[in-house]
Amino acid sequence: MTTTRGLREGDDPITMLTAYDAPTAAVVDEAGIDVVLVGDSMGNAALCYDSTLPVTFDEVASRTAAAARATEDALVVADMPFLSFGVDEAESVRNAGRLLKEANADAVKIESGPHTVETTRHMTEVGIPVMAHLGLTPQHVNQLGGYTRQGTEQDAAEEIIDLAGAHADAGAFSLVLEHVPANLASAVTEALSIPTIGIGAGPDCDGQVLVINDAVGLGEWSPPFAKQFGDVRGEMVEAVEAYEEAVTSGEFPAEEHSHVEEDLEDLY
Ligand code: KIV
Repeated sequence: MTTTRGLREGDDPITMLTAYDAPTAAVVDEAGIDVVLVGDSMGNAALCYDSTLPVTFDEVASRTAAAARATEDALVVADMPFLSFGVDEAESVRNAGRLLKEANADAVKIESGPHTVETTRHMTEVGIPVMAHLGLTPQHVNQLGGYTRQGTEQDAAEEIIDLAGAHADAGAFSLVLEHVPANLASAVTEALSIPTIGIGAGPDCDGQVLVINDAVGLGEWSPPFAKQFGDVRGEMVEAVEAYEEAVTSGEFPAEEHSHVEEDLEDLY
């Protein structure tokens, strides 16, 4: 069973994928992925919102609980949605605690910045493992003006390095680096004692994460840094069309899918 402490054990890179429901979490777990992230990317990937901002605490909690019930070995990390942290310190810690206590998450992820260093320390002190997240933080889309690469200017890159160190010192057990230059991710990884997990951050992080829809080919769009390892959408379309044809042609249900109860006679 993967633990927050054991994440860096062994020489293999850490693998993490998102999952937003039980069957997907079960597949990810069975495939031997180290971490199931119940990401707020569910906003776009599973709930058809335009961004992650509308995702609610209850949506994350319910989906985390489902993923946790379906997972045996992988670490289950619940993503704290927009405004469930960062407004009020006590409420942030309480919300994070509920994801462990009520939804059975093993840890929480928070989109990080200068405002989350103390929150990370506080959560860690009370026993809530925190995965930090720097670089592109999609909950800031309205300030960033889009989902663009971060840390491309010297000052911004140095700020990410400083913040990474501050979150590690505050007790974060790992750090997601999203959509940053590979050489910046490499420098952060080198500087930290906690593992980095990259998405659009090059090959030198301690691990990699992708949104499940992008990895298996379920979505209609995926970011340029993602790689599609399957065509689940295509396979689902084929299966659904085959079902439609079988029903309309009368081929399904066949005798083997039906039961006639011989004792039931003269029902009308
Ligand atoms: O919400 C999410 O899925 C994420 C990953 C892309 C890291 O934050």
